Amino acid sequence: MAAEKWVHTVTAQTPTNIAVIKYWGKRDEVRILPVNDSISVTLDPDHLCTVTTVAVSPAFDRDRMWLNGKEISLSGSRYQNCLREIRSRGGDVEDKEKGVKIEKKDWERLNLHIASHNNFPTAAGLASSAAGFACLVFSLAKLMNVEEDLSQLSAIARQGSGSACRSLFGGFVKWKMGSKEDGSDSVAVQLADEKHWDDLVIIIAVVSSRQKETSSTSGMRESVETSLLLQHRAKEVVPKRIVQMEEAIKNQDFASFTQLSCTDSNQFHAVCLDTSPPIFYMNDTSHRIISLVEKWNRSEGTPQVAYTFDAGPNAVLIARNRKVAVQLLQGLLYYFPPKSDTDMKSYVVGDNSILKEAGLEGAKSVENLQPPPEMKDKIGSQDQKGEVSYFICTRPGRGPVVLPDQTQALLDPVTGLPK
Ligand code: PMV
Repeated sequence: MAAEKWVHTVTAQTPTNIAVIKYWGKRDEVRILPVNDSISVTLDPDHLCTVTTVAVSPAFDRDRMWLNGKEISLSGSRYQNCLREIRSRGGDVEDKEKGVKIEKKDWERLNLHIASHNNFPTAAGLASSAAGFACLVFSLAKLMNVEEDLSQLSAIARQGSGSACRSLFGGFVKWKMGSKEDGSDSVAVQLADEKHWDDLVIIIAVVSSRQKETSSTSGMRESVETSLLLQHRAKEVVPKRIVQMEEAIKNQDFASFTQLSCTDSNQFHAVCLDTSPPIFYMNDTSHRIISLVEKWNRSEGTPQVAYTFDAGPNAVLIARNRKVAVQLLQGLLYYFPPKSDTDMKSYVVGDNSILKEAGLEGAKSVENLQPPPEMKDKIGSQDQKGEVSYFICTRPGRGPVVLPDQTQALLDPVTGLPK
């Protein structure tokens, strides 16, 4: 039947996000319902994103998925929950030209092909699951003509990975913990879009690590079971911080934004230490970066840079503006220079036009850098070579978009298999 040969596809791009008030701990492990609200900044998808192509065809014999070119199993409960939820909301789809005619009820029996790709190394510990599940849900919603709004979709993405719900929006996003048992009110909402506070520049130090980290899933479970500090944080601390952080974002109050981000990151890592057995996500390099930023902020009198660390050693540094970001990069490269013969454009990626502004286009220029004036205890710059794998320069960015250009699709429009 020629009419049954069609393949219908959609390709979408979704950003990743970094929490400035952290989510840590679930009250419901299956539905992924958190013990507190959280707030994040969406990162520019030009520098960090997931692209996903989803396809449906009567010719497909089962659901299949490829991640970064390799076929992976969809049998895990998180994938199954997302697929079930989105399928149940599918609408009618018709494309007369291609002979595509799908009715609402057909989504239960039609099989899907999904191909997903991150534009950054998955192993770098950069919240790839957030962008990944958000992109899966967003692209399927478009493919299936789902009418739900982005907040309602965020409640589905949440069931793949908690932090994924915040990647459905650009700019500044809050995940409301909600109170309903079925989780329908545990959704993400946008606080402000990416243009609201566009002075901010974000530099991520991807810190080298030999240690296999505790996954956020098992780490959180152990913290919920054993940390009294987590209980105190969820009940007493975060609710007040959420209100203050919303205010800081609304007023572009960088001093409060920094104070809240830094103390919240530190408290999250304190909860990890308070867990039995304790969990260590930050390492010596992470601690050195914290000292550097703290000393600089103190010497300036007003905060210039905020830091935050997720479940790994990478530092996410948020500079108040471009000028500060240039100085920050110079300081970072003084302490964490690249290994000899490294091309600067592969050591500072993302928006690497900042290299030119910092006068750091050649590796030689790094050797001529002077220590930041406030750092009296001059640690030799050579000592830290290799501690940072590379830096990513980015900014607050937009939410998910459909990519209409077929050349960006990851699945072949005729076979529905990876290109
Ligand atoms: O959604 P998960 O399971 O990847 O957990 C994310 C936890 C943190 O990144 C540490 C904090 C957060 O709010 O994103």
